[in-house]
Amino acid sequence: MLQKMDEIFQDFQSKIANLDKQADVLALKSSVIGKKGTLAEILKSLKNATPEERKTIGPKSNQIKQNIEKIVQEKIQKIELDEVNQKLEKEKIDFSLTNKNLEQGLQAAGLHPVTSIQREIEDIFISMGFDVLDGPHIEDEFHNFEALNIPDTHPARDMQDTFWFQDMKHLLRTHTSTIQVRGMESRKPPFKFVGPGKVFRSERTDATHEMCFHQLEGMMVGKDITVGNLIYFMKTLLKEIFKKDMEVRLRPGYFPFVEPGFELDIRWKKPAKGESKHSGWLELLPCGMVHPNVLKAGGIDPEEYNGFAFGLGLDRLVMVKYMIEDIRHLHSGDLRFNKQFKAY
Ligand code: DAH
Repeated sequence: MLQKMDEIFQDFQSKIANLDKQADVLALKSSVIGKKGTLAEILKSLKNATPEERKTIGPKSNQIKQNIEKIVQEKIQKIELDEVNQKLEKEKIDFSLTNKNLEQGLQAAGLHPVTSIQREIEDIFISMGFDVLDGPHIEDEFHNFEALNIPDTHPARDMQDTFWFQDMKHLLRTHTSTIQVRGMESRKPPFKFVGPGKVFRSERTDATHEMCFHQLEGMMVGKDITVGNLIYFMKTLLKEIFKKDMEVRLRPGYFPFVEPGFELDIRWKKPAKGESKHSGWLELLPCGMVHPNVLKAGGIDPEEYNGFAFGLGLDRLVMVKYMIEDIRHLHSGDLRFNKQFKAY
């Protein structure tokens, strides 16, 4: 009987070696150690065995069962691995391809126009002695609101629909003005810097609104800074971007972090005959003189220093510059869109 059991085990081993499907392996397993399997059949004839044999047969059959379980498990793992490898082979996943594609993307399509304009503006400001700062996308209430003179109860918090984290303390920054705060924290006046980056608003998207867009913040702090300084830097910036002197006008604008605050408009087209003299202006650059509370929150004495700040919408600027009618093109990820800007 013991010998027969050995034979069954050997037979199992030689059969399993030739199988390559999970279902066949499982069927073989149950044909041996299943309820009606060959091993069970043998055990039925236990009553004919000698007492000596009986002592060894029980443990031996358990041993065989365990061995078979183990072999089956290993076999199935191997089959699964083979299947994955075969699939990889068949679908020809070539990991080196990713790199190639990226390179082709850049070569074929060039930089995204928002990236290009951001770099161009950074260069303009660097040439005027500004630093370029970065800041985190995930911010806290202090840097996004409080330090910018927007307390908890301030209606201006509703002006910018915010993506809050579950703790209701952290958020995706709604504007790059957060970089003003981080800039003030990290340096001593006088200083001037710009801070470009992505910002996020929980808004419905349409031709002029996106949930994620780009701004470039600017701040200059020193002694006796005037609105004249602000206008000078803004006009220089616009002249560089549009490659010609731009006619600008300042209108009062309200932002809690500046006082006075302005909307800086550019003359976009001459009003046609009969049109109001107010037509042809385009709102482009909100700005103003930094509010004393903001300086205080940044650790700067407003009695001694003052400054200006501005927030430029980069997507808007690209749209104006290249006459793009829908902001969603900018985020479409469509290379055909990017390709149009390759020459710039
Ligand atoms: N942070 C403002 C916004 O996103 C834009 C802005 C307005 C920035 C005036 C400024 C500023 O620095 O002075 O709506």
